[in-house]
Amino acid sequence: MTGPGHHNDFTGGDGDVHAVVQAGAVHGGVHLTMPAPHPAALPIPAQLRATPGCWSDRTDELDLLDRYAQPCADADHGQTPSTGHDDAPTLVVITGAGGVGKTALALRWLHQLRPQYRDGQLFTDLRGFSGIRPADPGEVLERFLRALGISPDQLPRDVHEQSALFRSVTAERRLIILLDNAASAAQVRPLLPGAGRCLVVVTTRRTLPGLRVEGAHYLDLQPLDETGAQQLLDAMAGADRAAADPDAARALIAHCGRLPLALTACAAHLATHRHTPIARLVTRLNDERTRLA
Ligand SMILES: Nc1ncnc2c1ncn2[C@@H]1O[C@H](COP(=O)(O)OP(=O)(O)OP(=O)(O)O)[C@@H](O)[C@H]1O
Ligand SMILES: [Mg+2]
Repeated sequence: MTGPGHHNDFTGGDGDVHAVVQAGAVHGGVHLTMPAPHPAALPIPAQLRATPGCWSDRTDELDLLDRYAQPCADADHGQTPSTGHDDAPTLVVITGAGGVGKTALALRWLHQLRPQYRDGQLFTDLRGFSGIRPADPGEVLERFLRALGISPDQLPRDVHEQSALFRSVTAERRLIILLDNAASAAQVRPLLPGAGRCLVVVTTRRTLPGLRVEGAHYLDLQPLDETGAQQLLDAMAGADRAAADPDAARALIAHCGRLPLALTACAAHLATHRHTPIARLVTRLNDERTRLA
């Protein structure tokens, strides 16, 4: 346009202002309007930590977990008729003593399920048993919401509003959410989706019966059985070590109470001290126990 008092606005629909032909003089200011740049597409969150490199079988537990998630996992593939759970998140709580393998089992299972949960995986350590302040649900919600594309200026300050926004954002997604080391049901509740087909796994050393109200399935994890413990020792320290002295290997497994944490520590010691016979390690551990008793 020409003439005094006219504005000359050119708007770039896709961020580019293309060639404009101007015949004659331009009067008045020239205004170029560009749309706000699209925020860079966020990567699909993939926050699960890796599974242990050496894995000792937990077949029965993995089968049970698969059954818990079945209605939800199958819904997309039309393999099962609707059970009424299709539009409700699945909540699984894995309980058990420290070092029994709760986190490892959850990771092993959830990595297998990744292809069925196309919107990704969220992970947080709720620090229920780390000796420092347990994680505040608001702090976790902020991180989760940001990972799901909510910008810092869109984040509500109030934890109830954050929780409501989280339910809105997750309702249409298929996400895996791993809440590790939960201290209480109250800490977990604000972090639960309300609808949709997310899979939430909570690990905890407590029993958290309060989550039954939210429809939780429970798995109380026990130490490995004798075969699983032997497998773990062989995989980490080398099968030749136990084969050289099966009685000492059995004594070591018993000493560890078949707890994966204790077994992996002993197996790592044996792997780095290739010439230490298992019997010597057992003697040393027994001496320490006697000294501490
Ligand atoms: N089935 C398994 N096969 C191989 N390694 C395992 C297995 N289960 C657990 N582990 C290993 O044992 C150690 C303890 O396991 P994990 O951290 O899962 O225990 P946890 O029950 O989650 O303990 P905490 O209560 O302290 O969180 C880890 O190093 C883990 O990699
Ligand atoms: Mg753990």
